[in-house]
Amino acid sequence: MSDGVAAEMFGISPSSDNEVIELELGGWTFKIEVLSKVHQHTCKSTGLMLWESARFMASVLAKNPAIVSGKRVLELGCGSGGICSMIAARSADLVLGTDGDTKALDLLKQNVNSNLRPPLLDKLITRRLEWGNTDQIEAIKEAHAGGFDIIIGTDKHWCDLEPALILCHIFRRVDEPSILSAASHFGFRLVDKWPIGIPTNPSPSIIKTWFPENGSEHVESGALHILYFHME
Ligand SMILES: C[S@@+](CC[C@H](N)C(=O)[O-])C[C@H]1O[C@@H](n2cnc3c(N)ncnc32)[C@H](O)[C@@H]1O
Repeated sequence: MSDGVAAEMFGISPSSDNEVIELELGGWTFKIEVLSKVHQHTCKSTGLMLWESARFMASVLAKNPAIVSGKRVLELGCGSGGICSMIAARSADLVLGTDGDTKALDLLKQNVNSNLRPPLLDKLITRRLEWGNTDQIEAIKEAHAGGFDIIIGTDKHWCDLEPALILCHIFRRVDEPSILSAASHFGFRLVDKWPIGIPTNPSPSIIKTWFPENGSEHVESGALHILYFHME
C-alpha cells in the first residue's frame, strides 16, 4: 500500500518501510504501523511485526476483561504492535509494555500514541526491558514498587487473583521443556495448559473458561498453545 493511500484511508502516514494494519478488536478499530511484509523476512528484529498470537491474545483479553480488570499488568517482549497492552489498558489499573529492542519500542510508542487517548493513554507506560538486565529490572521495581499481578507474553506470556504468567504461541517450533525448566527455576508452577491440560491436575481448566464457545480456528485446530503458571 502506498503512503498516500494509507494516509488517506487511515489518517496515518507510515514511514517508507512500514505499512499500517487495521484491526477490529473489542469494538475498537486499531491502526497499527508495522514493518511492511516485503521487509519482514530480511529484518533481524522480530519486534517490528505483529505476530498472530498477539492478535489472538488481544482478542481473548477483549472478550475476557476480568483477566486484567483492576490489575497491574506487565507485558514482556511487547513488540511494536502493543495490542495486548492497549486492550489490557481498558480494564487494568496500569499496564507496562516493554521490549528490549529500541526500534520496536519506538514504533510501539508511536502506535500507542496514535491509538489511545487519555485517560487510557495515561495507564499504558512503555519502557525498555531486556530480559535479565538487572539495572533495568531494578529501575522498574523502583518505579512500580507494588509489583505486577499479571505478566503477558505472546510468542511468549499473562493472571487472576494469584500472580500468574501466561505464555501463548500459535504452534511452531518452541522448546517447551526449556520454557518449563526456566519457569520452574524462577519460581513459576505450571497450573494449566492448552490444548492438552495437565493430566495429573484434576482441577477444572482456567484457560477453557476463556473460550466458552471455542469460536476460533486456532482453538478448534489445536494450533493455539498456552502455558499458565502461578508463583510457587
Ligand atoms: C516473536 S516477537 C513477539 C512480539 C509481540 N509479543 C507479538 O506477539 O506481536 C518477540 C519480541 O520479544 C522481544 N525480545 C526478544 N528477546 C528479548 C530479550 N532478550 N529482551 C527483551 N525483549 C526481547 C523482541 O524484540 C520482540 O519484540
